[in-house]
Amino acid sequence: MSRNGHILAIDQGTTSSRAIVFDGRGTPIAVARREFPQHYPGDGWVEHDPADILRDVRTVAREAMEQAGLTAADIAAIGITNQRETTVVWDRATGEPIHRAIVWQDRRTAALCHQIADAGHGEMVRAKTGLLIDAYFSATKIAWILDHVPGARDRAERGELCFGTIDSFLIYQLTGKAVHATDATNASRTMLFDIHTQDWDDELLGLFRVPRAMLPRVLDSSDDFGVTEPTLLGAPVPIAGVAGDQQAAAFGQACLSPGMAKSTYGTGCFALINTGTTPVVSKNRLLTTVAYRLNGVTSYAQEGSIFVAGAAIKWLRDGLGIITHASQTDDLATRVPDSHGVYLVPAFVGLGAPYWDSEARAAIFGMTLDVGPAHIARAALEAVAYQTRDLMDAMAGDWGGAINALRVDGGMAANDWLCQFLADLLGMPVERPEIIETTALGAACLAALKVGLFDGLEAVSAGWRCERRFEPRMDPANRDRLFAGWRDAVARTRSR
Ligand code: G3P
Repeated sequence: MSRNGHILAIDQGTTSSRAIVFDGRGTPIAVARREFPQHYPGDGWVEHDPADILRDVRTVAREAMEQAGLTAADIAAIGITNQRETTVVWDRATGEPIHRAIVWQDRRTAALCHQIADAGHGEMVRAKTGLLIDAYFSATKIAWILDHVPGARDRAERGELCFGTIDSFLIYQLTGKAVHATDATNASRTMLFDIHTQDWDDELLGLFRVPRAMLPRVLDSSDDFGVTEPTLLGAPVPIAGVAGDQQAAAFGQACLSPGMAKSTYGTGCFALINTGTTPVVSKNRLLTTVAYRLNGVTSYAQEGSIFVAGAAIKWLRDGLGIITHASQTDDLATRVPDSHGVYLVPAFVGLGAPYWDSEARAAIFGMTLDVGPAHIARAALEAVAYQTRDLMDAMAGDWGGAINALRVDGGMAANDWLCQFLADLLGMPVERPEIIETTALGAACLAALKVGLFDGLEAVSAGWRCERRFEPRMDPANRDRLFAGWRDAVARTRSR
C-alpha cells in the first residue's frame, strides 16, 4: 500500500473534536482528541465558541498526523463529520463569527417553533424537509442570531454574512475562505432544505426569515470541497467527504441497503434506517432525512433522535453523585439481578422521538424502601434500551419490511451487558462492529470514494466486520412485561 493512501477524518462532535488517521484498508492508526467548553448562558441555552472548535480541529489534525508519523503527502484526502444542526453565522470577508454557535440542544427558539406550528405550517414543513417543527433544527437558530446581533439581518441580506453548520464553517476556514459549501446530509437538518428537490426552498426561507444570500452551496457527501490551506498540514490536501455525524455513522456501519439500521450511543442516541432512494414519511413521528448523496443520487433514511442516553450516566455521576466515574455504572448495575421494578425516564430536556414532548421532565418510578443506587444505575442503563425499542417499534411500523439486525456503535455500545439487554428487549440480534469508530470511518469512506481509494460502495460493505453478535434470549412474556412497565412510566411523565 502506498503511503499516500491514507485518509484523515475529522469528527467534530458536541463535546469533543477528534482526528483519526485511517490507512488504505480503513483501519484507524492514530487518534487525537480535545474536549472543549460548553456555554450555558440561559435556561435551556447551549453555545459553543467557534474559535475553540477551529483551534482544536487544527490541533488534533496535526497531532494525529504526528502520531501516525505521516506528512500531508501521505494523505489522499480529508473527510469531515460533525455535530449536526449547530448553527454558526460569520462575516464572509473576515471569516469571524458574529455570535457563538447555537448548539442543537439549545431550546431558546422553542416558543417561536410552537407559534409557527400553531399557525398551521407543520404539514408544509414536514412535506418538504421531512422534519417536525422544532428548536432542534437550524432554521430558527439562524433567525435568532439575525434578530439579536445589531445590523446582522441587513448584512445577511446584502450577502456579507455566511451561515453554516459546523462542517460548512470548518470547510470555509480550512480552505482559507475559498469554499462556502455543505453536503446534502447536513443541509437536510436545517429545516430550510427541500429533501425532494435537493435545493434550498424559498417558501421555507420566507417562513423562517432566512436570506438565501447567506446559505452555502449544497454538494454530494462525496465531492470536491476544495483544498486545505498549506498551513494546516504543511501542504494542501483535498477535502473530499462530508456528512453529519449520524449519517456518517450509518455509512461507516455499511447500512447501505434498504432495511439496514444502526443506533449510535453518545450523549444522546440516534437510530437510522436506510430506506433507499425513496423518502418514507413516518406515521410514527420519526424524521425523514438524507442518508447520503452520491453522484447526485440521494439515499434517504428515517431517523429517531433521543436526546439523553450517555447524558443520564453523566447525571448519575454529576447530579446524583452515586458514581465517581461513568465506567462504574456497569459494575453497579450488574450487582443486582434486576431493577426491582424501578424505571428511570430520562426526559431531562423533554422527550425526543417518537414522543416529541419538550415539556416532559425526567422521573423515577416504582421505588420501595429496599431500592438502592445499584437499582437506579441499572434503571438508567435499561432506559437506553427501552428508548431504542420505542424507536425500533416506530421504524418497524413505518418500514413494513424486515429489519434483520441492529448495528450499534458509540461509547455505550462497548458495554456487553447493555448490548445483550438491548437484543433481549428488541427480540432482534444486535451487532457490534470491529471498528467502533464508525462515525469517523464513514467520513473517511466518503472521502476515499471521491479520490478513488475505494471504487464503490461494495468496498465499504466489504470492510465492515462484526466483532460480536448478541442474540436475543429473554423469554417473550418477560420482555413484554418489562416493556409494558416502561410505556406506563413514560405515559406518567408526559406533559399532555
Ligand atoms: O443531531 C445532533 C447530533 O449530530 C449530535 O451528535 O455525537 O455530537 O452528540 P454528537
